[in-house]
Amino acid sequence: MTGQASRAESRFLGALAGEVTDRPPVWFMRQAGRYLPEYRELRTRAKDFISFCLDPEMAAEATLQPMRRFPFDASIVFADILLLPQALGQEVWFEAGEGPRLGELPPIERLAGEVEAAAGRLSAVGETLSRVRAVLEPERALIGFAGAPWTVATYMIEGRSSDRTRARSYAFEKPDDLDALIEVLVQATIRYLTMQVEAGAQALQLFESWAENIPEDLFERIVTRPHARIVQGLRAAGVTVPVIGFPRGAGSLLTGYAAGAGVNAVGLDVQASAAMGQSLQRSLTIQGALDPLLLRAGGDGLDRRVDQLLQQWGDGPYVFNLGHGILPDTPIRHVEQVLARVTGWRRA
Ligand code: CP3
Repeated sequence: MTGQASRAESRFLGALAGEVTDRPPVWFMRQAGRYLPEYRELRTRAKDFISFCLDPEMAAEATLQPMRRFPFDASIVFADILLLPQALGQEVWFEAGEGPRLGELPPIERLAGEVEAAAGRLSAVGETLSRVRAVLEPERALIGFAGAPWTVATYMIEGRSSDRTRARSYAFEKPDDLDALIEVLVQATIRYLTMQVEAGAQALQLFESWAENIPEDLFERIVTRPHARIVQGLRAAGVTVPVIGFPRGAGSLLTGYAAGAGVNAVGLDVQASAAMGQSLQRSLTIQGALDPLLLRAGGDGLDRRVDQLLQQWGDGPYVFNLGHGILPDTPIRHVEQVLARVTGWRRA
C-alpha cells in the first residue's frame, strides 16, 4: 500500500502534532549512509557524492535502504545541506575521506541574484521525494530538510569543515555581510523547502549543526530569528507541515530558541538534560538525544540509556532519535537492538 500518511496513521506526524502516542516514533539522523553495506555498494556507482545526491533513482534507493532493514517510523530524503550553496553558485565538492570543500565565497549581491533560480536547480531532490513517497508505506512519514542558514554560512565562509573560528569572527568583523548572507539563505531555504513539500515531504527539519559557542545576542540574530523567518515564510507560502529545528550545541539557549523560532519540535543533542527536555515538552515536541558514540559502543549501557530516555521523556510528545548523525562504523546489530527496545516499549 502506498500514498500519503495522515496524522492519524503516522506515529511520527502524531508526535509532531503534540500527541502522546502509544510509544514514541523513532528515526535516526543520517540513517542512510556508510554503516550500511548496501549503501557503500550503491555509492561506488556514482562518480561523486554531489551527482549521487542529484540522481533521483540512486538517491531514492539510498533513502529506502534503511527503511527496508529497520522499522523506522520516518524516512529522511537522501541529500545534503551543501546542495544549496552549490545551487546558489558557489562551487562545492567532496574530497574522498576528508569531507566537503567549497570554492571562494561569491559576492553576496551575486548570490542574492540566484535565490529565485536555486530551488529549481534542486528539482532532483523533489523528484527523489516523489519517488520515495510513492513506494513508502502510508504509516511511515517522509522528511525533507535543509541546512539552517548559519550552519550553511559557516561552510560557505570557511570553505570546509572546521572549528568555525573564521565564520564566528566574520559575524563580528563583517556583521552586515553576514546578515545579508543569512538573508539570502533564508529566502533560498523557504523556496527550497516549499518545493520539497510540494514534492511529497510531510515534515521538515532544519539542521543547525553548529549552534555552539555563540553568545546569546548573536545566537538570537543568526540562529533563532532566521529560523523564525523561514517558518513564517513557509506558512506564508501555504506550507502547513511541521518543522523540526535542531540547533545542536545550543545548551542553555535552547529555551529561548524554542520560544522564538516558531518550530513545532526541537531536536536535542547528547548533552540535553532530562529536566530541559521535560520543560520544553510543555510547549512543543522534542526529538533526540541518544549519543551516537554509545550506539556504536552497544552493550548493556546502550539498553540502559534507551530505557532512561523513554522513561524521562516518553510521557510527553517525543520522537526517539540520536543526538547527532549515526557514525559510519556503527554495527548494524546495535541499531537493531535500539529499534527493538523502542518499538517494544509501551507507555505505562
Ligand atoms: O540523514 C540522512 O540519512 C539523510 C542524508 C543526509 C546527509 N547529510 C548525507 C551525507 C543529511 C540529513 C545530511 C546533513 C548534513 N550534511 C549536515 C547536518 C547534519 C550533521 O551531520 O551535522 C552537515 C553538516 C552536512 C555536510 C556534510 N556532508 C559533511 C560535513 C560531510 C562529510 C562528513 C561525512 O560524514 O563524510 C557530508 C557528506 C555526507 N552527507 C555523507 C552522507 C551519507 C557521506 C558521504 C559519502 O557517502 O561519501
